[in-house]
Amino acid sequence: MAQEYKLPAVHHQVAVTIPADMQIPENFKLDKNKQLQCATCHGIADIENIPLEEIDPQATDFLNGGPYQKLTNFCYACHDKQDNQKLNIHKMLNKQQQVNQDHCDFCHLEIPDPAEPPGKEVLKFRLPKAKLCWGCHLKTPHLNAITHQQKLSDKMLEQLQKTQDQQQIRFPLGEDKQVICITCHNSHQYGVLDADSEAGKQIANTDLDTGISYQPHAWNEVYQQDKQKRLEEAGRSVHELTYQRLSTEVLLRLTAKDGSLCRVCHSFKD
Ligand code: HEC
Ligand code: HEC
Ligand code: HEC
Ligand code: HEC
Ligand code: HEC
Ligand code: HEC
Repeated sequence: MAQEYKLPAVHHQVAVTIPADMQIPENFKLDKNKQLQCATCHGIADIENIPLEEIDPQATDFLNGGPYQKLTNFCYACHDKQDNQKLNIHKMLNKQQQVNQDHCDFCHLEIPDPAEPPGKEVLKFRLPKAKLCWGCHLKTPHLNAITHQQKLSDKMLEQLQKTQDQQQIRFPLGEDKQVICITCHNSHQYGVLDADSEAGKQIANTDLDTGISYQPHAWNEVYQQDKQKRLEEAGRSVHELTYQRLSTEVLLRLTAKDGSLCRVCHSFKD
């Protein structure tokens, strides 16, 4: 391994010995001293001899076993997930599927009773609803999240209210009738709120360990080839646009897989 290699300023340790209690997956090859080397983590052959600016961190094999939707899933290949996981406050049901109130006050000032909801007007939160998720989540947790934080046009508002009435699902908006995180997301694990109520209608998946996950789409290759030329002309990398299919969804008020969620506000006809 090239010892003189200048790694990016913030980078994982290299050439360290594996602690006895750490399990390294078989396809993560250690060097002859049984220490971490570049090839333990990176699938790009000879990465230590490639100039930094020529390395594409979006390449599929940039990280072994990749691409990873969440970088932490890569970390958990070696580090123990249990010890390192952030507290997932959306887990609100215990093993008996009963509501555990431990995490309610991350958001609520007074914990409302799901059996007798007091009405949305009287709910009190730690922060304005539009900011409730920030701090733990980025303002831009995914593509389009920031562009969505806008006031609805009259047409969209009308369409949203129609869906709300027809399907009896609540899509809360911010104070200026703008889209906020909870317009699309329900922050309660399925089963906490009455699943038939407007506030509780959401995707019926309680598996928050898998969470939202993706699978590579068979069309991806074709899709990227098609876009490659145009993107190159625009000076952008084709990897910015991957065509992926949602494989599991959680904490969403309606499914996005088939576009139902999007059609609450958008109509694809025009
Ligand atoms: C324990 C795993 C691990 C080892 C060992 C490792 N890396 Fe990395 N490397 C990473 C991770 C994780 C990232 C950051 C990925 C991200 O933030 O998306 C990274 C990022 C990089 C990048 C940055 C690319 C960019 O443009 O941001 C380069 C270059 C790189 N590594 C080269 C090396 C080289 C050369 C070695 C061997 C000397 C090495 N790495 C060893 C895990 C590792
Ligand atoms: C191939 C296995 C492997 C992968 C993958 C890996 N690590 Fe490590 N990591 C190690 C080893 C080995 C050490 C050094 C021994 C130790 O400190 O536990 C280490 C040490 C660390 C340390 C220093 C621990 C301390 O107490 O100082 C941090 C922080 C860390 N890793 C974070 C990460 C993150 C974040 C990722 C994902 C981006 C990651 N690791 C991916 C193997 C790995
Ligand atoms: C991440 C933030 C967050 C956490 C944690 C949270 N809630 Fe909520 N809760 C909200 C938001 C936001 C609303 C209001 C949504 C709306 O405007 O309809 C709400 C509304 C409610 C309602 C009213 C439903 C209705 O029919 O109007 C009840 C009941 C409720 N929460 C119970 C709980 C309980 C019990 C817990 C803990 C087990 C909890 N919440 C944890 C954010 C949270
Ligand atoms: C106290 C911190 C905290 C708050 C507040 C919080 N979250 Fe989370 N949320 C988490 C953690 C931790 C996870 C687990 C996954 C991770 O580590 O990102 C998570 C997971 C999620 C996921 C699922 C992602 C997946 O693939 O597993 C969604 C969606 C989500 N949160 C939406 C929200 C929304 C919407 C709000 C605001 C109403 C909110 N969260 C408030 C900490 C928080
Ligand atoms: C227009 C609807 C919409 C809005 C607004 C929205 N989301 Fe999402 N969110 C989704 C959909 C759909 C997914 C799953 C597919 C995807 O990533 O595009 C998702 C995924 C997530 C995930 C999981 C990402 C991952 O890859 O694991 C988190 C965390 C999350 N959202 C948090 C938030 C937070 C925080 C906000 C507010 C800043 C927000 N979302 C605003 C629709 C929305
Ligand atoms: C609650 C209403 C609402 C929902 C639900 C919604 N959108 Fe939007 N969307 C908006 C608003 C408002 C804008 C910004 C104004 C505009 O472009 O008309 C927007 C803009 C967009 C844009 C153009 C801006 C950009 O980010 O490039 C795209 C693409 C988009 N939405 C896709 C989606 C998809 C995909 C879904 C379903 C996962 C979705 N939207 C769900 C309201 C919504």
